[in-house]
Order: sequence, then structure tokens, then C-alpha cells
Amino acid sequence: MTKEENKMEKIVSLAKRRGFVFPGSEIYGGFAGTYDWGPMGAALRKNIVDKWIHAMQSHDNIALIETSIFTAPEVWEASGHATGFSDPLVICNNCQRTFRADHLLEERGIVADEKMSEQELNTLFDTVRDTVICPVCNKKDFGQIVQKNLMATATLGKLSDEDKDVYLRAETAQSTYINYKNVLDTGMYKVPFGIAQVGKVFRNEISPRQFLFRKREFEQMEMQYFVAPEDAAAAFEKWKKERMDFYEEIGIRPDMVRYTQHDNLVFYAKDAWDIEYHFPFGWAELEGVHNRGDYDLTQHQTHSGVDLSVLDQDTHKKYIPHVIETAVGVDRMVLAVLADAYDEDQMGEGTRVVLRLKAEIAPVKVAVFPLMRNKPELVEKAREIYTELKKTIPHVMFDDNGNVGKRYRRQDEIGTPWCVTVDFDTLEDNTVTVRDRDTGEQKRIALTDLIMALGY
Ligand code: GAP
Repeated sequence: MTKEENKMEKIVSLAKRRGFVFPGSEIYGGFAGTYDWGPMGAALRKNIVDKWIHAMQSHDNIALIETSIFTAPEVWEASGHATGFSDPLVICNNCQRTFRADHLLEERGIVADEKMSEQELNTLFDTVRDTVICPVCNKKDFGQIVQKNLMATATLGKLSDEDKDVYLRAETAQSTYINYKNVLDTGMYKVPFGIAQVGKVFRNEISPRQFLFRKREFEQMEMQYFVAPEDAAAAFEKWKKERMDFYEEIGIRPDMVRYTQHDNLVFYAKDAWDIEYHFPFGWAELEGVHNRGDYDLTQHQTHSGVDLSVLDQDTHKKYIPHVIETAVGVDRMVLAVLADAYDEDQMGEGTRVVLRLKAEIAPVKVAVFPLMRNKPELVEKAREIYTELKKTIPHVMFDDNGNVGKRYRRQDEIGTPWCVTVDFDTLEDNTVTVRDRDTGEQKRIALTDLIMALGY
């Protein structure tokens, strides 16, 4: 196992051990592509989402909406997802395993265009078919490529076989587009403006993998910015910069993220750049910034028959706004944050595991300990301080389990920036020990200065 694979395993193990992420349906043997948030994970996830919403709402022309997971099937027919949102799959005739054909081609330096038909893909694959080795059984025996649609379906309210299945949304973007006119009609926004949305999406991923990286049910944070066509290029550059800045704000090391431009565009995009993170398994897409042109609004205008144009106040001509999209998965962002924060160092006796999370997103900001749990006067004072801190600081934890050294280790593993210990001196002079997660340095602080010393 390489050092990096080992790191991934350690992150998965820490996530389970400390209550960040549990495998979905674990007591029934698991359910592929699903994971559940534990108490620390739910808090970390929420802090990240709050940062994203805050970043969006720092603009006075960005609206926040929340829409349904179920939408009329026509939405996905209009957007092109019902027919065009698919992965090219190919089966190994020997071991019967299924693979992404575009990935097998990529390994040979051949880029399969996203817009290629099944037939075009097979013609391309034919040029190397006899030489492609199955990654599982090492045989060279691949069948024909088949395009597999990624939309997940449900039989909501279905009474007969003739009734249509409904789609579970595969991106939040479409439910934003179909509400764009409603937001405009409130009279509170006019082009240029954005609509931000956080919500669950579903994809029939054939090979969910790499922990939180590729799931079947995940959450997206997407923002659609509606702009006049002539302003789209400038808005695109502005959002590219702003989204990269966000990663520094949540504490990601700048050398661990980079931009890469797509040379192979999906059906809706005019230009697309990925913010990639250097995950333990290599550089991979974390967030997409897309110039979607007027594709989506035009499609919905045509299919719904509703006029989605706006009036240019200067020229008095109608036009369909262009859309700049920023799109990122919460789950993937949590994985990047965990991978970036995970560290091991020497402290005291032996190696410790520490999550160097930025305080703003740490699930627990401060832990309060009585030095000994069997001394009622210490426990009572610690409880008093804990209750007082909770009035100002979100996510304070009371911990009296095991010796103080063990409590430090536990808090280091969940990334708690500060631990406050109440000892016998506290009872005399109203001071406590505040220990810094990253340096292990301990300072004596007066209770009257404590909240300020913790940065609040
Ligand atoms: N609206 C555009 C859109 O959905 P995408 O590149 O398919 O574009 C956007 O998805 C983001 O959603 C990705 O950059 C990634 O962060 C996240 N994402 C996509 N598929 C995912 C999956 N199967 N599991 C977890 N996150 C995923």
C-alpha cells in the first residue's frame, strides 16, 4: 500500500471512530454509494455549508432558495439529462465486471468526447479494443460500449405501468432555472443576479468510490449567476477568482488546489474549469465553474412555452440571460477538508493524530474538562464554566472521560482548537489552563478574559 493510499484508509478509519462518517446501512452489510453523517460530521458539514451560504450572501444580489427533489419529468427532458446525461460503460466478457469506457481510454491517452454517441464511442474503442487489459482479470476481452443514463428514478404515485417514472434531481441547477422567473417576479432582483441553492441530488453512479468522493446520494452547493450575454466572460473570471479564494477562507492549503480547464465539454457548457484538490488518490475535481450560456433557459423556455427573457433597459430588446454556474459537492468538500487537515506529529510520548481544522469550521470549538471527574467541586466549577461559554460560543463540549492526556488526544482527533482544564487553582484564583491544539502550548487565563482569549 502506498503512503497516500494509507492516508486515505486512516481518514476513513478516523471518520468512523470519531463519529464523522458512517457507512450507509452498516448493520445490514452496507449499501453502495451511501454514507451517513455522525455527530462530528454533521457539525462539520453544517459549518462548511454555513460558510458557503455566508460567502454567497455577502453579495447583495444573490438570492438563496430551496426547492423540491421531485420535479416534473419534463424538466429533465428539457434540460437534456433524460437522454444526454450518461456514462459510457463496457463489460469485460471474461470476469463480467463493468468499467467506464472513457476511463479505460484515458489511461491510453485517448480522450472520448462527452458528446459522442454510442456508435462513435465504439468506433473509437475499436481502435484499441484488442489491446485494452481488464484491470480486474487482466484479460483482453471487452464487449460493446453502452451509454448508461445517470438519472435515478422513483415510482412516485405511479398507478399503472403507463404512468411515467419521475426523476430524482441530478443537480440543483435545473430546479433553480425553473424558479428563476419566480425570483425575478418578486421585484427584488434584476439581471445581473444570482440564485444559490444547497440540496440533495442523486446519481446512478455505476462505481461509487473513494469514500465521500463519488456517492450516489450527495449534496450540492450551486450558484447560478444570470447575466447579460456581453457581461458573461467578465462574470466568469470574477467567479473563478472568488471561488478559489473561498478555499483559503476555509483553511485549505493554497498549494493543494489548482484550476484545470476542460477540453472536453459536457452538453450544456460553453466553457468549464475545475478547481481540483490534491486528494490522497491524486488531483481530482472538487468544484466546477461553468459558463452555461443561454442553453438551459432557452431549453426551458422552448419546452414550457413560458417566456424566460428579460428586457434590456437601454436597447429595449428582449434577451435570454447567460448563466455562470459555480457547483460543488458538500461531501467532496468535507473529504478535501478532512484530507487537508489530517496530520500526525510527535507530541509527548508517541505519535498523535490531529485534525488541523480552521476554528470556524471545527465541529467542536472548545472542550471543557474538570481535571478529575471524582472531585465534585472541580466538576461543578467546570460545568459552570461550560454553561457560561455555551451562551457565546457554538459547539462547546464537556468531557470528563478518562485522564486529561486521553481527552486531549480525543479532542485533537476531532480538531477541537482549544481545551480548557479546570483544576484546584481555578477554585482559588479563577484561572484555567487553555491548551492550543496545534502547538500543545498551555496558558493560564483568568476566567474574566477567557471568552476573548478563545477569539469570541
Ligand atoms: N450543475 C453542474 C453539475 O452538477 P457536476 O460536475 O456534475 O456539475 C458538480 O457536479 C459537483 O458536484 C462536482 O464538482 C462535485 O463536487 C460534486 N459531485 C458530482 N458528482 C458527485 C458524486 N457522485 N459524489 C459526490 N459529489 C459529486
